[in-house]
Amino acid sequence: MEFKNSTNNQVYDYVFRKIILSLKRGISIATSPTDFFSFNSRELMLSYLKSTLNSMFDSVSAAGTDTYEFNMLEIGSGSGEPIDWFFAKEFSHRKELQKIDYKVNIIEPNSRFIKLYKERINKYQHLIKLGMAYNGKVQDYYDENLSDEERSQLPSLPKDSLDFIDCMHMIYHLQNLVKFLYGLLKPGGAIFMVFIDSSESFLKINSSFHKEVLKNTEISSRMSQTVKARHELLYEKQILPTLQESEDSNSSSSTSHRTRPKVESYKMNTTYFAKTLADMAALGSASELLTCNEEPFDIRILEFVLDKLKSTALQDSDDAVKEINLCRSKRDEEDVWMVEHPQIICVIHKEVI
Ligand SMILES: C[S@@+](CC[C@H](N)C(=O)[O-])C[C@H]1O[C@@H](n2cnc3c(N)ncnc32)[C@H](O)[C@@H]1O
Repeated sequence: MEFKNSTNNQVYDYVFRKIILSLKRGISIATSPTDFFSFNSRELMLSYLKSTLNSMFDSVSAAGTDTYEFNMLEIGSGSGEPIDWFFAKEFSHRKELQKIDYKVNIIEPNSRFIKLYKERINKYQHLIKLGMAYNGKVQDYYDENLSDEERSQLPSLPKDSLDFIDCMHMIYHLQNLVKFLYGLLKPGGAIFMVFIDSSESFLKINSSFHKEVLKNTEISSRMSQTVKARHELLYEKQILPTLQESEDSNSSSSTSHRTRPKVESYKMNTTYFAKTLADMAALGSASELLTCNEEPFDIRILEFVLDKLKSTALQDSDDAVKEINLCRSKRDEEDVWMVEHPQIICVIHKEVI
């Protein structure tokens, strides 16, 4: 693809579908989290995702109702391939045990991804209904940038209405999200979040781009602050008092259950793999540097990340400070480049007391 005359959304779309979601040899549809070539984050998060979903199902079973509508929201849903390798299997398995109707709602600013998501979910009509599909940004629901009237036109997302909220690899795009999402959970519901801790991956290179190319030290220090704040709030669980406050201020809410927030967090090492440094540069450019919008893509981002990777590749392995932990490895029996970085999983439960 010609990146030079593309918008940020087009570049993101390409990098996401063609590089991030590329599959191992001989595989055309990912039916397992181990099918992806460029990263191993899906397979490493699987057991946490499974156990969070199962805890939801267990609370549904415990409620003992004959039928249950399980309401899920996918934020930054992308094109929805986790339906193929995870949700459809788990949902059908559970449906054999219990009468559950599944509804999935999505929020996604990229219209092409929404279209692909709808096509995918059509294959599972017998199992999952598509609820609302909002083609826009999640912050439209809670930030100040829309008037009350404009916000009232958005597809509705009532409070206390959702069993499960999935925020996989999308939190990079926003702040102030978690408190809003917590308010949407039903008692017993959960939010499942996964994100890369870029401070140990592409953050240094990304912030050097702002300093060295754009001559903007403010953005680069804001980037580091955001990553640090995200880490403190979600990995070190400092979000708890905020969620507790929102519980306290909503204690008169419509449901009769008393609830409290519970946060679990885990860190594990995950890896990006790429056949070429150019593909690795595209992966690195799509992390904190690429905003999803219709503005023209700044090709200097890609050139800068690629130059940094090339010079790192030429450095001796025991050279003092490398900006990134880049090395050679094997993946799917091929020689590849790899960059290791931690992935953080944060699960927030609205626990019934
Ligand atoms: C790395 S992709 C992850 C997609 C999917 N969750 C997955 O794990 O396969 C990040 C997604 O977040 C979406 N996104 C970016 N900014 C967003 C925003 N402000 N609100 C909602 N989604 C957003 C992007 O369009 C993209 O589809």
